[in-house]
Amino acid sequence: MKTQILTPAEAEKAAGILKGGGLVGIPTETVYGLGADGMNPMAVGQIFQAKGRPQDNPLILHIWSADWLERYCEDIPDTAYRLAERFWPGPLTMVLRCKKRTPQELEELKNGPVCSCTHFGPRVIPDVVTAGLDTVGMRCPAHPLCRGVIRLAQTPVAAPSGNTSGRPSPTTARHMLEDMEGKIPAILDGGPCTVGVESTIIDLTCDPPRLLRPGGITLEQLREVLGEVAVDPAVTRQMGEGEKPRAPGMKYRHYAPKAPVTAIKGEAAQSAAYILNRLSHTRWDGVICFEEFLPLFAEEEGPILSLGPAGDKGEQARRLFDALRAMDRTDVKRIWAQCPDDGGIGLAVSNRLNKAAGFHIIEL
Ligand code: TXA
Ligand code: MG
Repeated sequence: MKTQILTPAEAEKAAGILKGGGLVGIPTETVYGLGADGMNPMAVGQIFQAKGRPQDNPLILHIWSADWLERYCEDIPDTAYRLAERFWPGPLTMVLRCKKRTPQELEELKNGPVCSCTHFGPRVIPDVVTAGLDTVGMRCPAHPLCRGVIRLAQTPVAAPSGNTSGRPSPTTARHMLEDMEGKIPAILDGGPCTVGVESTIIDLTCDPPRLLRPGGITLEQLREVLGEVAVDPAVTRQMGEGEKPRAPGMKYRHYAPKAPVTAIKGEAAQSAAYILNRLSHTRWDGVICFEEFLPLFAEEEGPILSLGPAGDKGEQARRLFDALRAMDRTDVKRIWAQCPDDGGIGLAVSNRLNKAAGFHIIEL
């Protein structure tokens, strides 16, 4: 299969592929997603194949507006609407209770073709989307092209990040082509993603609400609306044997380039000096540093990539995955990365870097 790159003018074609049960690469403001019609279990099943994704890792649904929530969810707390009001469309995913089918709907399914009961399950959302959980991640994305596709297709779009499982998420159509060439019919090119790390995931089925994955909407912003917010331990540390993170995806090694990563946290000049002192000064060592420290590494033979200015965490979020992917196009054997503090979107940058490093973090 030849993977076509679609221009923004071809959004209708992308929607057509979705409605026909196919997969499409879709730009969102966070990262590119690998989309399928979320109500078509056969289509959704192909996502797991194309990504090499474990079947027990549920997908999130992308919807047009908060008005669509009641079609797929029940027991929706008031906080969901308050968050939607403030942050949707935008980089926030809410975990809510799935809506159950009525006994009559279940009866109708049972009497339908055999495949329907095995594929659809007891909830309105097909089991293959939620990995059989009774909760679902709902997100209303802000990217105009992504919104265009949802509006044209008039269906919730199931979409994980468009990378091969384990690799850094794609923030350009080219990144996505690197991973999906020949595996999917098309990628809609909406330019580079403006947020650059995946959406924030907040679980609203527990009290207090719990941050499962930091992202484009910050913990501070969530607390302004919700008051108390718990932070899932999987956000800041490696899960131990037998420990189960609330977001199944958080247990997998992720965002990882081929070479091992060491992330250094601390005052920027200090972490840069720390790295410089440990470099082998050969082409086998790569560095991801803040813009200001490029001159410090000017003599190095290995690749030196800028994450953006030390004070601009938004830029760091936009550049991180591209930098990790760029390292994979070199033959480095070790990667050293400066890591921002946890304030604002720094928590998301630090979480992704630490996961790329297998939580091999050095705190100065
Ligand atoms: O920004 C994003 O969220 C991107 C774009 C494409 O929208 N999507 C994305 O999807 O990052 P994915 O599948 O790569 O990450 C979703 C995460 C996974 O870690 C998954 O385990 C978790 O959300 N998740 C999905 N449903 C869940 C649920 N019901 N409860 C807890 N975690 C859930
Ligand atoms: Mg992902």
